[in-house]
Amino acid sequence: MPGTVLVTGGFGLVGSATVGRLVELGRTVVVADLDTPANRAAATTLPPGVSVSWVDLTDAEQTARVVAEVTPTVIVHLAAIIPPAIYKNRALARRVNVDATANLVRIAEAQPTPPRWVQASSNAVFGSRNPHRSTGPVTADMPMKHSDLYSAHKAEAETIVRDSSLEWVVLRLGGVLSADPDAIPFSADAMYFDSTLPIDGRLHSVDVRDVAWAFAAATTADVVHEILLIAGDDSHRVLHGDVGPALAAARGMVGGTPKGRKGNPDDDDAWFVTDWMDTTRAQEALAFQHHSWSDMLAEARRRTGRSRHMLRIVAPVVKAVLARRSAYWKQPGQYADPWGAIGRKLGDAAPDFQV
Ligand SMILES: NC(=O)c1ccc[n+]([C@@H]2O[C@H](COP(=O)([O-])OP(=O)(O)OC[C@H]3O[C@@H](n4cnc5c(N)ncnc54)[C@H](O)[C@@H]3O)[C@@H](O)[C@H]2O)c1
Repeated sequence: MPGTVLVTGGFGLVGSATVGRLVELGRTVVVADLDTPANRAAATTLPPGVSVSWVDLTDAEQTARVVAEVTPTVIVHLAAIIPPAIYKNRALARRVNVDATANLVRIAEAQPTPPRWVQASSNAVFGSRNPHRSTGPVTADMPMKHSDLYSAHKAEAETIVRDSSLEWVVLRLGGVLSADPDAIPFSADAMYFDSTLPIDGRLHSVDVRDVAWAFAAATTADVVHEILLIAGDDSHRVLHGDVGPALAAARGMVGGTPKGRKGNPDDDDAWFVTDWMDTTRAQEALAFQHHSWSDMLAEARRRTGRSRHMLRIVAPVVKAVLARRSAYWKQPGQYADPWGAIGRKLGDAAPDFQV
């Protein structure tokens, strides 16, 4: 396949898997990502033939220089600031998620041969989803809704791309998970954020390798000007409260996660921005679903190895510590209040721009 694929955010969770898949397909790949110690370390393990352009995409000049040097035939735009970090860095997040996307789109449009653009969007663009009210999975033609900062940024970025003159494809991802215990780093913020979410909220999970497959396929498939919903097969239609405990148990922490709160059936706004998605068209076009939820759990169990036995012993202590640090510890009320709980600890979750 001729031409170079420029992958922004290529050292992230989705990016590193996508770069790997593109290399498997024999494509020429350039990663465009921030010059940080962690990304420098990741660069030493890149497959042969992949090069790196160190760039801060919020810097218009640097960005223009990278595009001029690489002359990509495809841009896979993954770079973003996502939850929970987005709530702590509202101003920077807007510059990365919205302004840098607009700038890169303008630069791409101005190229003599404009590249195809594959945009990483999210099921967050559908806004808060109350499972007691919604019927059936979300579909690509449903309206977008700004429920929080992240859903607003993803919707704005998508609109910029869809309004451009480029040959664009939008992939709206579900909850991306990995069977590799090291792929998603543990952090206190991530644990707290997870504990804010209503345990009976719907999440459509997907193995990061299947997401990577979809992105790589979308660089060439006959899908221009389509919005495709990227999530796993039906086994991945899960509830928020089931995911953490199942993954933790697969890694040995049986019963090591405290129970969270259910969502309020009467408050449509007090739910997180995820839901089950209709993936029929995406699967038909990109044939990316290869790892079921039970396959992922079995693999997570295998990869954890002997440390599983140690983790099983410490699970009750871990559970007690996590319970004290969780969002609703000693909080009044019965139901989850994700936006309030995020606001208390991480930062204001409200959209920064209303349409
Ligand atoms: N992870 C999920 O569950 C999920 C779900 C839906 C959508 N998405 C979308 O998929 C994309 C990738 O997500 P991810 O999970 O890989 O995120 P990630 O945080 O793992 O990776 C983001 C990457 O963007 C890079 N980046 C951030 N600011 C930058 C800047 N100013 N210049 C250059 N690079 C910058 C980071 O260094 C990082 O490598 C995002 O657009 C995200 O919104 C992710």
